[in-house]
Amino acid sequence: MSAERGRKPAGSPAGPYGLMGRWWGAIAMLAAACAGGGEQPPGPEATGPILVGEYGSLTGSEATFGQSTHNGVMLAVEEINKAGGINGRTIEVKTYDDQGKTQEAGTAVTRLITDDKVVAILGEVASGLSIAGGRVAQQYGVPMISPSSTNAQVTEIGDMISRVCFVDSFQGYAGAKFATDHLKLTKVAILYDQTAPYSKGLRDDFTKAFTGMGGTIVADQAYSRGDQDFSAQLGTIRDAGAEAIYLPGYYTDVGNVALQARKLGVTVPMIGGDGWDSAKLAEIGGSAIEGSYYTNHYAKEEARPEVQRFVTDYHSKYGADPDGLAALGYDATRVLADAMKRSPSLAGKDLAAAIASTADFPGVTGRITIDPATRNANKPAVVVQVKNGAPMFVASILPPDAAPGG
Ligand code: PHE
Repeated sequence: MSAERGRKPAGSPAGPYGLMGRWWGAIAMLAAACAGGGEQPPGPEATGPILVGEYGSLTGSEATFGQSTHNGVMLAVEEINKAGGINGRTIEVKTYDDQGKTQEAGTAVTRLITDDKVVAILGEVASGLSIAGGRVAQQYGVPMISPSSTNAQVTEIGDMISRVCFVDSFQGYAGAKFATDHLKLTKVAILYDQTAPYSKGLRDDFTKAFTGMGGTIVADQAYSRGDQDFSAQLGTIRDAGAEAIYLPGYYTDVGNVALQARKLGVTVPMIGGDGWDSAKLAEIGGSAIEGSYYTNHYAKEEARPEVQRFVTDYHSKYGADPDGLAALGYDATRVLADAMKRSPSLAGKDLAAAIASTADFPGVTGRITIDPATRNANKPAVVVQVKNGAPMFVASILPPDAAPGG
């Protein structure tokens, strides 16, 4: 009968760090003492490093999502610790690879909370994985910040879950606005991943926005993550007379779709969302993806000083250009550190509330203000075009309520 430490799911008599938590901890300590276990009391140590958890796809078909995010997180942690940490305490990060699998994401978050006893969690990238992991974090009352999951459901899980990126109702609008105003398109076909909440949601959001602007969806086709043959869908799309294909998927599938589309003589541009954001996109898609567009969270050409400093620092640490995930991982970590400094304690409730009251934080991906009611951030999007295999800034799209006269 070992003394179980610390974390109990919500609904149990003891919250992790509250008054009840301390009572429960005292009981656990007593139990441990009686059992001769010599266990430490639960909850974060008042001194020593602060442990933060991270989960992401470090392997699998979306591996660059987790890898880039981790690079951004570690760059931020290095800077924060160099500048004195959180009231003198350094931040330490424990990272698990969920391999891009839903079940692994849930398991990773459970381990971070119950085994490692982290005070907060950074992750995931893919919305479906943030939904799986977020449910666990919410249940245990541990704050989680998703750097980059844009699906509406992620923060709807509950008050422990925030994000520092925009949401897909806006991203779909941004894609539609670009297609309508910049490309002057009226007939678009959609090809989406029916297995990903992100892709399904973005397809709905784009459809709503684009038809609202007077456009027509001339074909609406689906695939499943990992599919290798898209010829039936692409044939339908070709016959429908689309001027462009809206393709709200993740980069590996998108690269494969582009290759097949060009082979089948489908030459119209493709428009995607942030799920395209990977150096691997052009490695897979090659010339087939050249000239296509996607909405994203930042572009490295932006002149803002936050962007230029980050690009330089990232480059000197990793020898590569940071993608949007790296920028969002960096921003999420700095928002978390800022909230830790402002929070009266590192208890879940306090810290979650401090995160949710983030206002006007100067992020690489724009000014970050989290709406305390929805825990979403309202930010502009950029549109980039794939040029010589790399994303190039094309346009900035403001949220509709921030547009002049809107
Ligand atoms: N927004 C995507 C999702 O929610 C994840 C993503 C963000 C991918 C940014 C690439 C860049 O699933």
